[in-house]
Amino acid sequence: MATLITGGAGYIGSVTTELLRDRGEQVVVLDNLSRGYRDAVAPEVPFYEGNVGDRKLVTRIVKEQNIDACIHFAAFAYVGESVAHPALYFENNVAQGIQLLGALVESGVRRIVFSSTCATYGEPQRIPIDESHPQQPANPYGWSKLFIERIMADYDAAYELKFVALRYFNASGASSTRGERHEPETHLIPLVLKAAKNEIDHVTVFGNDYPTTDGTCVRDYIHVSDLGGAHALALEYLRAGGASTAINLGNGQGYSVLEVINAAREVTGRDIAIEMQGRRAGDPSHLVADSSKARAVLGWQPQHADLAGIIASAWEWHSSGQSVD
Ligand SMILES: NC(=O)c1ccc[n+]([C@@H]2O[C@H](COP(=O)([O-])OP(=O)(O)OC[C@H]3O[C@@H](n4cnc5c(N)ncnc54)[C@H](O)[C@@H]3O)[C@@H](O)[C@H]2O)c1
Repeated sequence: MATLITGGAGYIGSVTTELLRDRGEQVVVLDNLSRGYRDAVAPEVPFYEGNVGDRKLVTRIVKEQNIDACIHFAAFAYVGESVAHPALYFENNVAQGIQLLGALVESGVRRIVFSSTCATYGEPQRIPIDESHPQQPANPYGWSKLFIERIMADYDAAYELKFVALRYFNASGASSTRGERHEPETHLIPLVLKAAKNEIDHVTVFGNDYPTTDGTCVRDYIHVSDLGGAHALALEYLRAGGASTAINLGNGQGYSVLEVINAAREVTGRDIAIEMQGRRAGDPSHLVADSSKARAVLGWQPQHADLAGIIASAWEWHSSGQSVD
């Protein structure tokens, strides 16, 4: 049996695809390449270029490739863009996601690992955030993910669809062969490394008057290979008959924007200029995961929790020239 990986040509999807292959799993990628790269998927992996909302295509892939499970990464994932163009997010992430779920259920595929996000929690009421924290997204991106979580819960009740919604905190770092190539880049670590390489003049820091130790926002950075490993465990969990559930993926350790920049200065030995600006709408001061459920339910053990190590892996990737198209 094989696993269908939607969005496998993107950042987290391509790392996870490689990791599953290394574990001897059969994988098949479906990606429309709107935000991904064909060369991020090894030529040996069966690759279908198309939309997850194309029911006929999904039904055909399930038959042709003997699919018994799906890891659903494919989505648009920029908070700012979702505020400016919510239709893009609801049409791509929700409308197409519903078609995908429908095609899978109709074809008899009832195991799904879903890329959800800490953005489904909205402004935190307590830190660290555990899975029982209320979900009140602060932007259309977060809502688009929460809608799919909600729909999967009802499909479980009615159609016995079993799912693990993995709520990632900040994915970061690179494997030895694959890393982050977002265009435009909005994530802090790749931006900081672009500044270290003089590809951009400076890094903009949004807000230094938050109630944190140095006034800048605190986030929980999780290495992309540790994320990939959690997907492999979530698949095992579902194949062993596990019940549907939602699980946070973070390290449980928060770093401020300035701490990340200082760590990157140390790792790269380069100067990194910053420019302070006011707060950005919708940025919570702290987002830190309680990830004890991932450890208890999946047996997950992050291997790369150290911030300097995460940045060093991304720096190696950026310096290798592979991040350039
Ligand atoms: N990067 C993070 O820090 C983070 C945090 C929380 C959740 N997530 C979620 O993880 C998933 C992967 O994130 P990423 O950073 O790897 O993003 P990415 O943009 O690098 O990858 C997404 C991939 O999905 C493809 N895609 C998008 N819409 C599609 C569609 N309708 N049909 C087929 N393919 C489509 C894109 O071409 C791209 O290759 C997303 O669902 C995102 O919301 C990411």
